[in-house]
Amino acid sequence: MVVTNGIVSLKHLVTMETLSNEEVLGLIKRGLAFKQGRADFKLDRQYFAANLFFESSTRTHKSFEVAEKKLGLSVIEFDAKTSSLNKGETLYDTILTMSALGVDICVIRHSQDDYYKELIDSRTIQTSIVNGGDGSGQHPSQSLLDLMTIYQEFQEFAAFENLKIAIAGDITHSRVAKSNMQILKRLGAQLYFCGPEEWYSLEFDVYGQYLPIDEIVDQVDVLMLLRVQHERHDGRGSFSKENYHRLYGLTQERYDRLKDNAIIMHPAPVNRNVEIKDDLVEAPKSRIAAQMQNGVFVRMAILEAILNGKA
Ligand code: CP
Repeated sequence: MVVTNGIVSLKHLVTMETLSNEEVLGLIKRGLAFKQGRADFKLDRQYFAANLFFESSTRTHKSFEVAEKKLGLSVIEFDAKTSSLNKGETLYDTILTMSALGVDICVIRHSQDDYYKELIDSRTIQTSIVNGGDGSGQHPSQSLLDLMTIYQEFQEFAAFENLKIAIAGDITHSRVAKSNMQILKRLGAQLYFCGPEEWYSLEFDVYGQYLPIDEIVDQVDVLMLLRVQHERHDGRGSFSKENYHRLYGLTQERYDRLKDNAIIMHPAPVNRNVEIKDDLVEAPKSRIAAQMQNGVFVRMAILEAILNGKA
């Protein structure tokens, strides 16, 4: 992976850990250029992209598809339910097939942590892998759109340096939290973690401080809420919606204590009245819709970087 004159060039994008700070800022700035209509982009040949989603998705799947179509890529339909996976084909063999067909980029979401390792280590598979989320592992395109949203808001204040950011909720099961805590710490942000003890692990202590949401809500610049990931729970921490909301969620009272220029983020989908009070989803401090919109443009920047890597 290289950056030349601000142009990022990638073979794959599977984690945030493998991106340098320069590459992260390059992708954010390019995402902004796409958003503001300032980016020149032209394909030198026909390129094929396939979106393989083995777990449910609305935002990631559809915003990659919009990004691909905006860039003029040929998008290959793939439905896991009607594919040869039903005949016992493995993920590896499915991607080997895509590569043999000449698909240039595979965007993949899969429930298995680190599913991408055997794909990017393969000597035969030529297609580039973009991780659209692996189990409870990483979600790099979500992290980049979150960073783009924060950058847009605070760039006058040196972007991430010394920003106070609380990540609140189901941290253990969240690939968004894991991607973001690593990169935000590296970019100089001051991190805090809030939420149920059952969904927190001491391994996160190297990135920030774990404390009750009520001790920090009035001091943060960014309150990053997380979805409660029922599908990844194994009985640990079962809360009623009302109890979770009262103890850990964004109530009206907590919203009213936020600083004037603080923003609320959530990767969505949102469990309304659980992580966040229903009518706060679209409140003035909420950037949840802006995150979804930025997702298209930062994904254009990611796809362009992969195409740069093929040039
Ligand atoms: N934020 C996010 O990944 O949403 P989807 O699951 O809808 O893609």
